[in-house]
Amino acid sequence: MLNNIKEWLKNNVDEERYYHLLGSEIAAKELAERFGVDANRAALAALVHDCAKSLPYEELIKIINENNIVVSEMEIKSRKPLHAPVSSFLAQSKFGIQDQEILDSIRYHTIGRVNMSLFEKVVFLADKIEINTRDKEFRKRIYNVLDATNNIDEALLICYEITIKSLLDRRFFIDPETIKVWNDFIVNIYK
Ligand SMILES: [Fe+2]
Ligand SMILES: [Fe+2]
Repeated sequence: MLNNIKEWLKNNVDEERYYHLLGSEIAAKELAERFGVDANRAALAALVHDCAKSLPYEELIKIINENNIVVSEMEIKSRKPLHAPVSSFLAQSKFGIQDQEILDSIRYHTIGRVNMSLFEKVVFLADKIEINTRDKEFRKRIYNVLDATNNIDEALLICYEITIKSLLDRRFFIDPETIKVWNDFIVNIYK
């Protein structure tokens, strides 16, 4: 099954994205082992999390409309996060993945959500720190925090901090969900 999925990915996402997915698979396995969630399932989720990333916007919208996939108005407006719900849909319809936790972790890998499960956090973070395409200094910072605190929330907080700062710097709009998730982490880490 894994070989078939990799073959499909190789043919349907661009080359850099393919290496990003292979890197994410390895990172998810490591993080899952570190935090005690199922490593094989986390690795599978990470491997396919961007499977719809190379589809054009019109195609994403078509798939969303034809299959009644629930997306927010903000996701439609900002476009970029739309590959997440469609990747989750393809994981089910193309690869036959029925595991809801895997499908949810793919669905919420871009913006995240309030009360993410530990499994979702592992897949979310794997996407941000995989070795093949992510910034080395950033990875180092995250691993330092993980080694010092062993708290995945501290690592996710850094991801959100960097994302929100960069959105502000570029004067982009910020999805209210992102702020909600940020507040959720602040309340839960510093309570
Ligand atoms: Fe993504
Ligand atoms: Fe990704």
